Amino acid sequence: MTTTPEIGAPGFTEPRLPLLLLGAGTDPDSERGVDCPGELPPASDPELVERARAAKAALGEQVFVLGHHYQRDEVIQFADVTGDSFKLAQQAAARPQAPYVVFCGVHFMAESADILTADHQQVVLPDLAAGCSMADMATFDQVEECWEVLEDMGVADDVVPVTYMNSSADIKAFVGRHGGVVCTSSNARRALDWAYSKGSKVLFLPDQHLGRNTAVLEMGFALEDCVVYNPHRPDGGLTPQQFRDARMLLWRGHCSVHGRFTKQSVDDMREQVPDVNILVHPECRHEVVVEADYIGSTEYIIRTLAEAPAGSSWAVGTELNLVRRLANRHPDKNIMFLDRTVCFCSTMNRIDLPHLVWSLEALARGEVVNRIRVDEETAHYARVALDQMLALP
Ligand code: 13P
Ligand code: SF4
Repeated sequence: MTTTPEIGAPGFTEPRLPLLLLGAGTDPDSERGVDCPGELPPASDPELVERARAAKAALGEQVFVLGHHYQRDEVIQFADVTGDSFKLAQQAAARPQAPYVVFCGVHFMAESADILTADHQQVVLPDLAAGCSMADMATFDQVEECWEVLEDMGVADDVVPVTYMNSSADIKAFVGRHGGVVCTSSNARRALDWAYSKGSKVLFLPDQHLGRNTAVLEMGFALEDCVVYNPHRPDGGLTPQQFRDARMLLWRGHCSVHGRFTKQSVDDMREQVPDVNILVHPECRHEVVVEADYIGSTEYIIRTLAEAPAGSSWAVGTELNLVRRLANRHPDKNIMFLDRTVCFCSTMNRIDLPHLVWSLEALARGEVVNRIRVDEETAHYARVALDQMLALP
């Protein structure tokens, strides 16, 4: 009979908890961190808003709170700056006098903030389990192995790696070491133009949809110019000829939130609301994006709806916290969610008011919790790729 060793005893291996439902434990396959070590205030505490306000006021200029557009309303109300991942990367260093940067977003964004802020600034992620399932789809070892395959195939010298912001600091550093660039959904076209001025092929990590949609819809590539590298198959599941012919090598990753929208969602919406405008994020599948009227990052979506005429109808294919906020902000416009099923980003949603209160109150006591820290060498090379992005024309 085999027995399972006691927790902490020799031979004990921590169970894999892919969803970290309670925010505790570790997930060795994830770019995100581990458990929340503190006592969280209960979500039912009626004083939470007041407590967050008081802790933030006590910290004053010492804290800078950044909030991604997909955050809950209860959290976003405390952000000093809100934005998409590009704007937040630009803004991370905007308050060098603040020793604490509280990042209300997901793990890879907080890592980028740590890389881009000064050494004396400490970045805090209120819940370490706020990761990104897409970022988890490309691990450092897999990407190194992919590069070896490209070398074996004799094409590595032609390839410029480009990674979406939604990737771990390790992957950004890999890209920095290999002469590549980071991009976001706001500047993917500019990043790819830059990359193709340096090499004839691009390895695009980790979101196949953003890569394909940008190459085909904005740069005039044919679908056949793009191939998908599957890290779970030998040689990525591609033949030597495919490696030679492809202009765009897309990593097999996707966003599980944006991946839910389908062509059927668009058809159903058009049938129900004939004058509807379909507005989607480029992380949606190609079959959805080709049917849409407008495509762009979260900042673009916000701007488009702000500028839309009163009375116009919009079905929006992106995360639900943002769509709901925009519908409330523009009651004169008919703003709907593109899919029938409720579709929050579960990891973005992990940052809730109890976690924010817990981290702000700890900072107000001088205790830094859930610090996100990227080691110096990784930060150096990741900064090379991030600075290249920030310098794009
Ligand atoms: P943005 O680049 O539009 O902020 O999107 C980030 C993200 O995680 C979308 O899923
Ligand atoms: Fe990641 Fe998708 Fe959530 Fe964005 S919406 S953080 S890509 S899982």
